[in-house]
Amino acid sequence: MPESKRYTGLIEKYRARMPVSASTRLISLGEGNTPLIRLENIPATLGKDVELYIKYEGLNPTGSFKDRGMTMAVTQAVAEGSRAIICASTGNTSAAAAAYAARAGITAFVLIPEGKIALGKLAQAMIHGAVVIQIRGNFDAGMALVKEVAEQTPVTIVNSINPYRLQGQKTAAFEIVDALGRAPDFHCLPVGNAGNITAHWIGYSEYAGQQTAACAFCAGQCKYPHPAVTGKRPVMVGYQAAGAAPFLRGHMVDHPETIATAIRIGHPQSWEHAWTVQKESAGWFDECTDAEILAAQKLLTEKEGIFCEPASATSVAGALRDIRSGKIPQGSSVVCTLTGHGLKDPDTAIRQCQGDMLTVDAELGAVKTAILDNMT
Ligand code: F0G
Repeated sequence: MPESKRYTGLIEKYRARMPVSASTRLISLGEGNTPLIRLENIPATLGKDVELYIKYEGLNPTGSFKDRGMTMAVTQAVAEGSRAIICASTGNTSAAAAAYAARAGITAFVLIPEGKIALGKLAQAMIHGAVVIQIRGNFDAGMALVKEVAEQTPVTIVNSINPYRLQGQKTAAFEIVDALGRAPDFHCLPVGNAGNITAHWIGYSEYAGQQTAACAFCAGQCKYPHPAVTGKRPVMVGYQAAGAAPFLRGHMVDHPETIATAIRIGHPQSWEHAWTVQKESAGWFDECTDAEILAAQKLLTEKEGIFCEPASATSVAGALRDIRSGKIPQGSSVVCTLTGHGLKDPDTAIRQCQGDMLTVDAELGAVKTAILDNMT
Protein backbone atom coordinates (compact mmCIF):
# COMPACT_ATOMS: atom_id res chain seq x y z
CA MET A 1 0.00 0.00 0.00
CA PRO A 2 1.37 3.45 -0.80
CA GLU A 3 2.55 5.16 2.39
CA SER A 4 0.19 8.09 1.81
CA LYS A 5 -2.88 5.83 2.18
CA ARG A 6 -1.84 4.41 5.55
CA TYR A 7 -3.70 5.90 8.52
CA THR A 8 -1.04 7.30 10.84
CA GLY A 9 -3.00 8.87 13.65
CA LEU A 10 -5.06 11.91 14.43
CA ILE A 11 -2.32 14.56 14.54
CA GLU A 12 -1.37 13.72 10.97
CA LYS A 13 -5.01 13.52 9.89
CA TYR A 14 -5.92 16.92 11.35
CA ARG A 15 -2.45 18.43 11.18
CA ALA A 16 -3.63 21.90 10.09
CA ARG A 17 -5.75 22.13 13.24
CA MET A 18 -3.15 20.77 15.67
CA PRO A 19 -0.42 22.65 17.56
CA VAL A 20 2.52 21.03 15.73
CA SER A 21 4.99 22.24 13.13
CA ALA A 22 6.27 20.49 10.02
CA SER A 23 9.39 19.30 11.88
CA THR A 24 7.67 18.06 15.07
CA ARG A 25 8.38 14.39 15.87
CA LEU A 26 4.93 12.85 16.23
CA ILE A 27 4.48 10.23 18.95
CA SER A 28 1.62 8.17 17.59
CA LEU A 29 0.16 4.68 17.78
CA GLY A 30 -2.45 5.22 15.07
CA GLU A 31 -5.07 6.49 17.55
CA GLY A 32 -8.41 7.98 16.52
CA ASN A 33 -10.47 7.03 13.47
CA THR A 34 -12.87 5.10 15.71
CA PRO A 35 -16.23 3.89 14.38
CA LEU A 36 -19.49 5.78 14.75
CA ILE A 37 -21.96 2.93 15.10
CA ARG A 38 -25.69 3.48 14.66
CA LEU A 39 -27.67 1.53 17.24
CA GLU A 40 -30.23 -0.73 15.58
CA ASN A 41 -31.97 -2.70 18.31
CA ILE A 42 -32.13 -0.49 21.41
CA PRO A 43 -33.96 2.48 19.80
CA ALA A 44 -36.81 0.17 18.70
CA THR A 45 -37.47 -0.71 22.35
CA LEU A 46 -37.85 2.96 23.28
CA GLY A 47 -40.82 3.65 21.03
CA LYS A 48 -39.15 6.93 20.08
CA ASP A 49 -37.89 8.06 16.73
CA VAL A 50 -34.25 9.02 17.34
CA GLU A 51 -31.01 8.51 15.45
CA LEU A 52 -28.75 7.10 18.13
CA TYR A 53 -25.02 6.69 17.49
CA ILE A 54 -22.17 5.31 19.55
CA LYS A 55 -18.68 6.75 19.19
CA TYR A 56 -16.73 3.65 20.16
CA GLU A 57 -13.59 5.05 21.74
CA GLY A 58 -12.70 1.70 23.25
CA LEU A 59 -11.15 0.86 19.87
CA ASN A 60 -8.22 3.20 20.38
CA PRO A 61 -4.75 1.58 20.74
CA THR A 62 -4.83 1.32 24.54
CA GLY A 63 -8.60 0.88 24.65
CA SER A 64 -9.80 4.34 25.63
CA PHE A 65 -10.24 7.92 24.40
CA LYS A 66 -7.19 8.93 26.42
CA ASP A 67 -4.96 8.02 23.48
CA ARG A 68 -6.27 11.03 21.56
CA GLY A 69 -5.00 13.39 24.22
CA MET A 70 -1.88 11.44 25.01
CA THR A 71 -0.50 11.45 21.45
CA MET A 72 -0.61 15.25 21.52
CA ALA A 73 0.59 15.69 25.13
CA VAL A 74 3.55 13.32 24.70
CA THR A 75 4.41 14.78 21.29
CA GLN A 76 4.56 18.22 22.93
CA ALA A 77 6.49 16.94 25.98
CA VAL A 78 9.13 15.39 23.70
CA ALA A 79 9.27 18.56 21.57
CA GLU A 80 10.02 20.52 24.76
CA GLY A 81 12.82 18.11 25.67
CA SER A 82 11.03 16.45 28.57
CA ARG A 83 12.46 13.10 29.69
CA ALA A 84 9.57 12.08 31.93
CA ILE A 85 5.82 12.45 32.17
CA ILE A 86 3.55 12.07 35.17
CA CYS A 87 -0.18 11.67 35.79
CA ALA A 88 -2.68 10.78 38.45
CA SER A 89 -5.20 8.34 37.11
CA THR A 90 -8.24 6.19 37.70
CA GLY A 91 -6.59 3.82 35.21
CA ASN A 92 -7.04 4.77 31.58
CA THR A 93 -4.80 7.82 31.58
CA SER A 94 -2.06 5.75 33.21
CA ALA A 95 -2.42 3.05 30.53
CA ALA A 96 -2.17 5.63 27.75
CA ALA A 97 0.69 7.52 29.40
CA ALA A 98 2.61 4.27 29.86
CA ALA A 99 2.18 3.23 26.22
CA TYR A 100 3.02 6.61 24.65
CA ALA A 101 6.01 7.09 26.95
CA ALA A 102 7.27 3.67 25.84
CA ARG A 103 6.83 4.70 22.22
CA ALA A 104 8.70 7.96 22.84
CA GLY A 105 11.47 6.34 24.88
CA ILE A 106 10.81 8.42 28.00
CA THR A 107 9.69 7.53 31.53
CA ALA A 108 6.08 7.56 32.74
CA PHE A 109 5.27 7.96 36.43
CA VAL A 110 1.67 7.11 37.29
CA LEU A 111 -0.15 7.65 40.59
CA ILE A 112 -3.14 5.38 41.04
CA PRO A 113 -5.58 4.86 43.91
CA GLU A 114 -4.67 1.59 45.63
CA GLY A 115 -7.17 -1.17 44.93
CA LYS A 116 -9.50 1.08 42.93
CA ILE A 117 -8.40 0.64 39.34
CA ALA A 118 -9.70 -2.00 36.97
CA LEU A 119 -7.43 -4.97 36.34
CA GLY A 120 -6.86 -4.41 32.62
CA LYS A 121 -5.66 -0.86 33.20
CA LEU A 122 -3.23 -1.90 35.91
CA ALA A 123 -1.86 -4.61 33.61
CA GLN A 124 -1.30 -2.03 30.87
CA ALA A 125 0.57 0.46 33.05
CA MET A 126 2.79 -2.30 34.41
CA ILE A 127 3.59 -4.13 31.16
CA HIS A 128 4.50 -0.90 29.35
CA GLY A 129 7.10 -0.24 32.03
CA ALA A 130 5.62 2.78 33.76
CA VAL A 131 6.73 3.49 37.30
CA VAL A 132 3.47 2.68 39.08
CA ILE A 133 2.99 4.46 42.40
CA GLN A 134 -0.10 3.28 44.26
CA ILE A 135 -1.34 5.79 46.80
CA ARG A 136 -3.49 5.15 49.84
CA GLY A 137 -5.97 7.76 48.70
CA ASN A 138 -8.30 8.48 45.81
CA PHE A 139 -7.77 10.10 42.40
CA ASP A 140 -8.32 13.61 43.76
CA ALA A 141 -5.53 13.15 46.32
CA GLY A 142 -3.28 11.81 43.55
CA MET A 143 -4.02 14.79 41.35
CA ALA A 144 -3.12 17.26 44.12
CA LEU A 145 0.17 15.40 44.67
CA VAL A 146 1.02 15.35 40.97
CA LYS A 147 0.58 19.11 40.72
CA GLU A 148 2.88 19.64 43.71
CA VAL A 149 5.56 17.18 42.67
CA ALA A 150 5.68 18.59 39.12
CA GLU A 151 6.77 21.92 40.59
CA GLN A 152 9.73 20.29 42.31
CA THR A 153 10.89 17.66 39.79
CA PRO A 154 11.56 17.73 36.02
CA VAL A 155 8.38 15.94 34.93
CA THR A 156 5.63 17.02 32.55
CA ILE A 157 2.03 16.57 33.72
CA VAL A 158 -0.09 14.75 31.14
CA ASN A 159 -3.43 14.93 32.93
CA SER A 160 -6.08 16.92 31.10
CA ILE A 161 -4.99 20.14 32.86
CA ASN A 162 -2.27 19.98 30.19
CA PRO A 163 -3.99 21.97 27.39
CA TYR A 164 -2.35 19.84 24.69
CA ARG A 165 -4.41 16.86 25.91
CA LEU A 166 -7.63 18.64 25.01
CA GLN A 167 -6.25 19.62 21.61
CA GLY A 168 -5.81 15.92 20.85
CA GLN A 169 -9.19 14.96 22.27
CA LYS A 170 -11.06 17.63 20.28
CA THR A 171 -10.52 15.47 17.16
CA ALA A 172 -13.28 13.10 18.28
CA ALA A 173 -15.74 15.91 17.50
CA PHE A 174 -14.11 16.45 14.10
CA GLU A 175 -14.50 12.76 13.28
CA ILE A 176 -18.18 12.78 14.21
CA VAL A 177 -18.93 15.79 12.02
CA ASP A 178 -16.87 14.29 9.19
CA ALA A 179 -18.82 11.02 9.48
CA LEU A 180 -22.33 12.52 9.75
CA GLY A 181 -21.73 15.48 7.47
CA ARG A 182 -23.06 17.71 10.29
CA ALA A 183 -22.90 18.03 14.06
CA PRO A 184 -25.43 15.88 15.96
CA ASP A 185 -28.25 17.58 17.86
CA PHE A 186 -27.08 16.14 21.19
CA HIS A 187 -23.75 14.75 22.38
CA CYS A 188 -23.78 12.70 25.59
CA LEU A 189 -20.65 11.89 27.59
CA PRO A 190 -19.70 10.38 30.93
CA VAL A 191 -18.09 13.08 33.09
CA GLY A 192 -15.28 12.64 35.62
CA ASN A 193 -12.64 15.34 35.47
CA ALA A 194 -14.66 16.96 32.67
CA GLY A 195 -11.70 17.24 30.30
CA ASN A 196 -13.38 15.22 27.59
CA ILE A 197 -16.65 17.15 27.47
CA THR A 198 -14.55 20.33 27.29
CA ALA A 199 -12.40 18.92 24.49
CA HIS A 200 -15.44 17.89 22.45
CA TRP A 201 -16.89 21.37 22.78
CA ILE A 202 -13.59 22.88 21.64
CA GLY A 203 -13.66 20.59 18.60
CA TYR A 204 -17.28 21.30 17.71
CA SER A 205 -16.72 25.03 18.19
CA GLU A 206 -13.66 25.04 16.00
CA TYR A 207 -15.46 23.16 13.23
CA ALA A 208 -18.38 25.59 13.55
CA GLY A 209 -16.00 28.54 13.17
CA GLN A 210 -16.91 29.76 16.64
CA GLN A 211 -14.78 30.46 19.68
CA THR A 212 -15.33 29.12 23.16
CA ALA A 213 -14.15 30.45 26.49
CA ALA A 214 -13.35 26.83 27.39
CA CYS A 215 -10.37 26.72 24.98
CA ALA A 216 -6.99 27.76 26.34
CA PHE A 217 -5.78 28.08 22.76
CA CYS A 218 -8.66 30.23 21.59
CA ALA A 219 -9.35 32.50 24.58
CA GLY A 220 -10.66 35.36 22.53
CA GLN A 221 -8.01 35.27 19.84
CA CYS A 222 -7.68 31.85 18.34
CA LYS A 223 -4.14 30.74 17.71
CA TYR A 224 -5.43 28.32 15.11
CA PRO A 225 -8.18 30.07 13.18
CA HIS A 226 -9.68 27.76 10.60
CA PRO A 227 -12.51 27.93 8.14
CA ALA A 228 -15.80 26.61 9.46
CA VAL A 229 -16.88 23.13 8.38
CA THR A 230 -20.37 23.32 9.86
CA GLY A 231 -22.36 26.16 11.34
CA LYS A 232 -23.91 24.07 14.06
CA ARG A 233 -22.81 22.86 17.49
CA PRO A 234 -24.62 20.17 19.52
CA VAL A 235 -26.22 20.45 22.93
CA MET A 236 -23.68 18.90 25.32
CA VAL A 237 -24.98 16.58 28.02
CA GLY A 238 -22.76 15.23 30.81
CA TYR A 239 -23.72 12.28 32.98
CA GLN A 240 -22.04 11.45 36.28
CA ALA A 241 -22.21 8.47 38.60
CA ALA A 242 -24.58 9.33 41.45
CA GLY A 243 -21.91 8.71 44.13
CA ALA A 244 -19.43 10.95 42.35
CA ALA A 245 -21.55 13.79 40.97
CA PRO A 246 -20.09 17.18 41.94
CA PHE A 247 -21.77 18.87 38.95
CA LEU A 248 -25.16 17.81 40.31
CA ARG A 249 -24.34 18.79 43.88
CA GLY A 250 -22.98 22.16 42.72
CA HIS A 251 -19.82 21.67 44.77
CA MET A 252 -16.82 19.34 45.12
CA VAL A 253 -17.46 15.90 46.65
CA ASP A 254 -14.88 14.64 49.14
CA HIS A 255 -15.55 10.91 49.20
CA PRO A 256 -16.68 9.88 45.71
CA GLU A 257 -17.84 6.27 45.37
CA THR A 258 -19.06 4.31 42.33
CA ILE A 259 -18.59 0.96 40.65
CA ALA A 260 -17.55 2.96 37.58
CA THR A 261 -14.04 3.47 38.97
CA ALA A 262 -12.91 5.46 35.91
CA ILE A 263 -15.16 8.34 36.97
CA ARG A 264 -14.73 7.99 40.73
CA ILE A 265 -13.75 11.67 40.96
CA GLY A 266 -15.06 14.31 43.35
CA HIS A 267 -12.88 17.29 42.47
CA PRO A 268 -13.03 17.70 38.68
CA GLN A 269 -10.05 19.59 37.28
CA SER A 270 -12.04 21.14 34.42
CA TRP A 271 -14.82 22.42 36.71
CA GLU A 272 -14.99 25.94 35.25
CA HIS A 273 -14.59 24.76 31.66
CA ALA A 274 -17.41 22.25 32.00
CA TRP A 275 -19.81 24.90 33.30
CA THR A 276 -18.81 27.06 30.34
CA VAL A 277 -19.64 24.16 28.01
CA GLN A 278 -23.01 23.68 29.71
CA LYS A 279 -23.89 27.35 29.35
CA GLU A 280 -22.55 27.89 25.83
CA SER A 281 -24.25 24.74 24.50
CA ALA A 282 -27.46 25.11 26.54
CA GLY A 283 -26.82 21.59 27.83
CA TRP A 284 -27.18 19.93 31.22
CA PHE A 285 -25.67 17.51 33.71
CA ASP A 286 -27.44 14.56 35.25
CA GLU A 287 -26.56 11.53 37.34
CA CYS A 288 -27.01 7.77 37.01
CA THR A 289 -27.00 5.18 39.78
CA ASP A 290 -24.55 2.28 39.66
CA ALA A 291 -27.48 -0.04 38.91
CA GLU A 292 -28.51 2.08 35.90
CA ILE A 293 -24.89 2.17 34.67
CA LEU A 294 -24.49 -1.61 34.86
CA ALA A 295 -27.89 -2.17 33.22
CA ALA A 296 -26.87 0.05 30.29
CA GLN A 297 -23.55 -1.78 29.97
CA LYS A 298 -25.35 -5.12 29.78
CA LEU A 299 -28.00 -3.80 27.37
CA LEU A 300 -25.30 -2.64 24.94
CA THR A 301 -23.49 -5.96 25.04
CA GLU A 302 -26.63 -8.10 24.74
CA LYS A 303 -28.66 -6.05 22.27
CA GLU A 304 -26.00 -4.41 20.11
CA GLY A 305 -22.80 -6.45 20.53
CA ILE A 306 -20.89 -3.48 21.91
CA PHE A 307 -18.79 -4.00 25.04
CA CYS A 308 -17.74 -0.94 27.02
CA GLU A 309 -16.49 -0.43 30.53
CA PRO A 310 -18.99 0.67 33.22
CA ALA A 311 -18.03 4.38 33.24
CA SER A 312 -18.63 4.57 29.49
CA ALA A 313 -22.13 3.13 29.80
CA THR A 314 -23.10 6.15 31.90
CA SER A 315 -23.56 8.16 28.70
CA VAL A 316 -26.03 5.61 27.33
CA ALA A 317 -27.83 5.12 30.66
CA GLY A 318 -28.45 8.86 30.87
CA ALA A 319 -29.30 9.34 27.21
CA LEU A 320 -31.87 6.53 27.19
CA ARG A 321 -33.58 8.04 30.22
CA ASP A 322 -33.66 11.50 28.62
CA ILE A 323 -34.94 10.10 25.32
CA ARG A 324 -37.69 8.19 27.12
CA SER A 325 -38.77 11.28 29.06
CA GLY A 326 -38.70 13.48 25.95
CA LYS A 327 -36.02 15.81 27.34
CA ILE A 328 -34.13 14.73 24.24
CA PRO A 329 -36.97 15.15 21.74
CA GLN A 330 -38.12 12.81 18.96
CA GLY A 331 -36.41 13.37 15.64
CA SER A 332 -33.06 14.19 17.31
CA SER A 333 -29.70 12.82 16.30
CA VAL A 334 -27.77 11.78 19.38
CA VAL A 335 -24.16 10.66 19.80
CA CYS A 336 -23.09 8.84 22.97
CA THR A 337 -19.38 8.42 23.56
CA LEU A 338 -18.29 5.04 24.88
CA THR A 339 -15.00 6.12 26.38
CA GLY A 340 -13.33 2.79 27.19
CA HIS A 341 -13.38 -0.87 26.15
CA GLY A 342 -15.22 -3.44 28.25
CA LEU A 343 -12.11 -5.62 28.54
CA LYS A 344 -10.55 -2.95 30.74
CA ASP A 345 -12.66 -4.23 33.63
CA PRO A 346 -13.23 -7.98 33.26
CA ASP A 347 -13.98 -8.43 36.97
CA THR A 348 -17.09 -6.24 36.89
CA ALA A 349 -18.29 -7.87 33.67
CA ILE A 350 -17.96 -11.40 35.04
CA ARG A 351 -19.60 -10.40 38.33
CA GLN A 352 -22.61 -9.17 36.33
CA CYS A 353 -23.00 -12.60 34.74
CA GLN A 354 -22.73 -14.93 37.74
CA GLY A 355 -24.66 -18.11 37.05
CA ASP A 356 -24.81 -17.48 33.32
CA MET A 357 -22.35 -20.27 32.50
CA LEU A 358 -23.17 -23.97 32.08
CA THR A 359 -20.74 -26.70 33.06
CA VAL A 360 -21.33 -30.15 31.60
CA ASP A 361 -19.42 -33.39 31.06
CA ALA A 362 -17.20 -33.51 27.95
CA GLU A 363 -19.67 -35.77 26.21
CA LEU A 364 -21.95 -35.32 23.16
CA GLY A 365 -25.28 -36.00 24.88
CA ALA A 366 -24.63 -33.44 27.62
CA VAL A 367 -23.54 -30.74 25.16
CA LYS A 368 -26.53 -31.46 22.91
CA THR A 369 -28.94 -31.16 25.82
CA ALA A 370 -27.34 -27.90 26.89
CA ILE A 371 -27.89 -26.55 23.37
CA LEU A 372 -31.47 -27.73 22.88
CA ASP A 373 -32.51 -26.53 26.35
CA ASN A 374 -31.23 -23.03 25.59
CA MET A 375 -32.43 -22.39 22.04
CA THR A 376 -34.35 -19.12 21.80
N1 F0G B 1 -14.73 7.34 30.87
C1 F0G B 1 -13.60 6.69 31.11
C2 F0G B 1 -13.50 5.27 30.68
C3 F0G B 1 -12.52 7.35 31.76
O1 F0G B 1 -11.39 6.67 31.98
C4 F0G B 1 -12.67 8.68 32.17
C5 F0G B 1 -11.61 9.39 32.86
C6 F0G B 1 -13.89 9.32 31.87
C7 F0G B 1 -14.90 8.63 31.23
C8 F0G B 1 -14.15 10.73 32.24
O2 F0G B 1 -13.50 11.62 31.39
O3 F0G B 1 -12.30 12.87 33.13
O4 F0G B 1 -12.44 13.73 30.80
O5 F0G B 1 -14.45 13.71 32.27
N2 F0G B 1 -10.57 8.81 33.29
C9 F0G B 1 -9.41 9.50 33.88
C10 F0G B 1 -8.25 8.54 34.06
C11 F0G B 1 -9.72 10.31 35.06
O6 F0G B 1 -7.42 8.75 34.94
O7 F0G B 1 -8.16 7.58 33.30
P1 F0G B 1 -13.16 13.08 31.92
